Amino acid sequence: MILFDVYPLNNITITKALGSYVWDENGVQYLDMYGGHAVISIGHTHPHWVKKIEEQLEKIAFYSNSVVIPIQQQLAEKLGKISGKEDYQLFLCNSGAEANENALKLASFHTNRKKIIAFSKSFHGRTSLAVAATDNKNIVAPVNETDNIIFLPFNDEKALQQCFNENGNKIAAVIVEGIQGVGGINIASISFLKLIRNLCNEYNAVYVADSVQCGYGRSGKFFSHDYAEVNADIYTMAKGMGNGFPIGGILIAPHIKPKHGMLGTTFGGNHLACAAALAVLEVIEQENLIEMAKQRGMYLMNKLKNIDAIKNVRGKGLMIGFDVPEEIKDLKKKLLQSFNVFTGEAKPNVIRLLPSLAISRKQVDEFLEVLQEAIAELKTEMVTV
Ligand SMILES: Cc1ncc(COP(=O)(O)O)c(C=O)c1O
Repeated sequence: MILFDVYPLNNITITKALGSYVWDENGVQYLDMYGGHAVISIGHTHPHWVKKIEEQLEKIAFYSNSVVIPIQQQLAEKLGKISGKEDYQLFLCNSGAEANENALKLASFHTNRKKIIAFSKSFHGRTSLAVAATDNKNIVAPVNETDNIIFLPFNDEKALQQCFNENGNKIAAVIVEGIQGVGGINIASISFLKLIRNLCNEYNAVYVADSVQCGYGRSGKFFSHDYAEVNADIYTMAKGMGNGFPIGGILIAPHIKPKHGMLGTTFGGNHLACAAALAVLEVIEQENLIEMAKQRGMYLMNKLKNIDAIKNVRGKGLMIGFDVPEEIKDLKKKLLQSFNVFTGEAKPNVIRLLPSLAISRKQVDEFLEVLQEAIAELKTEMVTV
């Protein structure tokens, strides 16, 4: 049997990882500024995380949601405390798409409405409603097409206001990333998020904060939406939540009431995933990683802004993007192939940096140094061509 070929692959086999480094099968070391797509929050194979998973594995890995699973409650309590959303309710699932799918479904149940507002350049996942709310026609199959999604320009307050004026009583939810990830590190303005909050209040619609990529401390606050000092009705989470162990979840405001059968899952909230997620929160707390992400991010972004060859450096905490001009368009490839550094991208010309929140100052400096070397090499190659 062969693998279903849906990913353009780098021809690298990673066999070992620790903190912000990974090693390939030949022992070559790579600096991970990509965090396996924003997933590595506390660092690869963090010893506390490994220990907690191992201990849980020896007791019980899985039983279905038909019995009491106390570690779910422990996770909920810790998550409430660290996120500052102690009065919210937690529903656990397995991925970001699933979190958004459940959030939108719940919003529809709650409001008894069908229409959802999403924004240009959004990415919410690949399952039916999540992908329909994603602004990329190439990944929407005919069966996913629906006229229940209304797309508006990101950060366009006038368009949002007008849409609510015209359709307000039909809107179940507004779904918005606090910082767009796949779309290229675009920050939702504070006034835009405040307007979403106000309009959702006025029209009894549900504010869904997609925090799958920009959440879990990455932005320097637990949720990037916290910068706007608004409370969303539902926060969706995954990626950094398990540091690589698959787990997702939604935080649900107290006014949204549950009903048996409304949501459900076989694997969501299993013992092993909860042990991993609890270990992540313990490390975030013990190592003060949200503040670290903020400090390191500020340092990195300030240094990047001094590099003339790259443009439009933006982001918050350790969710950073910059534009790569045409003359150094192979920068990402160069960083990986000649300097052993993984970075992320957003088409057509953005490099995304999404390292572990525990990345050290020394590793940030190491990145800055090779970035400048890579740029210099590309410029020299241009001249000699
Ligand atoms: C903002 C956002 N939402 C949802 C998703 C989907 O998450 P998953 O791939 O875990 O389904 C992603 C994945 O990149 C994302 O960036």
